[in-house]
Amino acid sequence: MTASKGRGFRVAVLCNRKARVPHVAGAPADYLAEYDTDETVQAIVRALESAGHEALVLEADSTLLDTLRQAAPDICFNIAEGLRGEARESQVPALLEMLGIPYTGSGVLANALSLDKAMCKRVWMAHGLPTAPFQVFHRPDEPLRVGLRFPLFVKPVREGSGMGVDPGSVVHDEPALRQRLSWAIGSYRQPALVEPFLQGREFTVGLIGNNRACLPVPDSCLYDERGFHVFPVLEIDVSPIPASQGIYSSHVKSERPTEPRYLCPAPIGAELARQLQDLAVAAFLAIGALDVGRLDFRLDEHGKPHLLEINTLPGLNPRYSDIVMAAHGEGMPYESLVNEILQLAIARYGLATSSSTGGSPLSSQGDRVPASCRLEGQL
Ligand SMILES: Nc1ncnc2c1ncn2[C@@H]1O[C@H](COP(=O)(O)OP(=O)(O)OP(=O)(O)O)[C@@H](O)[C@H]1O
Ligand SMILES: [Mg+2]
Repeated sequence: MTASKGRGFRVAVLCNRKARVPHVAGAPADYLAEYDTDETVQAIVRALESAGHEALVLEADSTLLDTLRQAAPDICFNIAEGLRGEARESQVPALLEMLGIPYTGSGVLANALSLDKAMCKRVWMAHGLPTAPFQVFHRPDEPLRVGLRFPLFVKPVREGSGMGVDPGSVVHDEPALRQRLSWAIGSYRQPALVEPFLQGREFTVGLIGNNRACLPVPDSCLYDERGFHVFPVLEIDVSPIPASQGIYSSHVKSERPTEPRYLCPAPIGAELARQLQDLAVAAFLAIGALDVGRLDFRLDEHGKPHLLEINTLPGLNPRYSDIVMAAHGEGMPYESLVNEILQLAIARYGLATSSSTGGSPLSSQGDRVPASCRLEGQL
């Protein structure tokens, strides 16, 4: 391992910044929504430096193989969304594994499942976790499955940041469904997922941690007996933006992120809060996610929670990203959130035995323990 400056590690922040993403002819209007701002990347760099690490930024494009070899980081802080392809969020983890470089967050498989909402829901259903029934449309004219009743919700199967989602995603009849499917499949050049419109309140649950049963977790009272620290439930109420019609769309997320009401802890009973937090951990474990994640939920008309999706690369904007607000909701500063994610990966790879933020690297890569694990059927 490269000698690190001072007591910290040499950490490469791997990202795709909006300003550097190549323009693709015919791309939808919100095609940049997933990518990170300079503000986010600089905030992560400052947070890592505040813990004594040396931080550098590498763009996760076709230069990455060369820049990684030159930079020779001890570990990477991965927030790269990937530029294209049906498993774009897995491309950087795959490259890092090929090169044998440790990195934060989920690996190839969990990032691919997280990006593909239908595959992820299939895994959750197999684990008995509550997520709405659905159908994937490859063509706009495929027959609607028996049992799916209007109103329905249509969204691209492999996007994030609300891309392809707006009030028009809610369809009340066949003609509207067909029209929306044509638009979604054509604009985003991928299948569309159709599921019941869940008309209840919206919540998101952020968590950090790993499955203590098979992975080392930093020796800190922050993590519970399962190995997780689950942030308080955050409720997102978009009613201050009437045009949103209750939908947390890409327009709201990208153009008006400070306008919804973010309530943390959510004003809900202890029982529902606990249920959402436990479901978040179970859903995270079910796909073998690592270090950090954010699970989105909506209630149905009976008040029952349903998992919408998981974000294994949750936004880390210091001002308005949901997991950052949830951390603030319990008093955890941004710098601690970023450095806890790093410490979780450091512990997994056996790079250090200290759990303290910015702790010294005490062991070499030769001492590594397995970086990931999946416990089938242990929910
Ligand atoms: N079945 C549904 N019923 C009602 N609203 C839904 C449904 N699915 C999605 N939504 C709305 O659309 C928004 C975006 O959907 P979802 O979270 O599934 O996708 P995303 O774009 O990957 O989100 P993120 O920005 O968290 O990555 C949700 O926050 C919610 O407001
Ligand atoms: Mg979401």
